Amino acid sequence: MRLEELHPPFGLRIRSGDLEMHPVRMDDIPVLLDLIATGVVSADIPGYPLAGPFALGDDTMARRRSSLRFWWQSWVDATPERWAFPMTVLRGGVVVGVQDILARDFPTIRSAETGSWLGVQHQGKGTGKLMRQVMCTFAFDHLGARELHSGAFHDNHRSLGVSRAVGYEFNGRRLMLRGNGEASEEVLVRLTPDRLVRPEVPVEVDGLGPFLDFLGLAD
Ligand SMILES: CC(C)(COP(=O)(O)OP(=O)(O)OC[C@H]1O[C@@H](n2cnc3c(N)ncnc32)[C@H](O)[C@@H]1OP(=O)(O)O)[C@@H](O)C(=O)NCCC(=O)NCCS
Repeated sequence: MRLEELHPPFGLRIRSGDLEMHPVRMDDIPVLLDLIATGVVSADIPGYPLAGPFALGDDTMARRRSSLRFWWQSWVDATPERWAFPMTVLRGGVVVGVQDILARDFPTIRSAETGSWLGVQHQGKGTGKLMRQVMCTFAFDHLGARELHSGAFHDNHRSLGVSRAVGYEFNGRRLMLRGNGEASEEVLVRLTPDRLVRPEVPVEVDGLGPFLDFLGLAD
């Protein structure tokens, strides 16, 4: 028996042109851990602009352990009521980073949140925008999302630039702990299907049926 028959997220594959993403698999993990070790925060951004596992500042071992726990947890804990799918992103066949999507009570609420990172060497080449466009298109067209949320610290201009370019609207502010140990203002953004700026190349999905069934979203 193949693993994806028991755990359908392992059979999901989303593509647009030379970009592919799929829920993180065991084989991806060593490369993703190497990317984290090499760096995720570019030198032009002052102080770590990230929350979550990356709020651990310079301690790359702790950041890698924290990401590992999150990826493993995503395999164990996914239910229709609560799921998180960190997806390995490849560009031209090369692993470049992770695009996450998370939700609670999605079959009823149809609202989800996204987050993402790229290895520093893969930033600033349009991949961050494309992977978010692909994920949002997948969430609206294939999962039936009604809204998508995201956010970034006020001085994370690249991340906010991606949100603007993909069609998100300003949706408030809140204080969050960032990786340099300080409280900092996060800018919240929200996207609805009518505002989505789609990728130029259409999104293709493999393994959708069993994935929808697994999440209680099949008709
Ligand atoms: C945020 C991140 C995923 C963006 O990906 P990227 O590949 O570097 O960004 P892109 O090259 O796709 O740029 C996307 C858009 O932002 C704009 N942009 C880039 N840098 C910018 C800047 N300094 N100021 C304003 N806009 C900027 C680009 O012009 C582009 O928009 P456009 O297509 O309309 O011109 C990536 O930089 C990253 O991993 N950063 C570190 C981790 C992180 O901060 N994650 C987000 C946490 S909330």
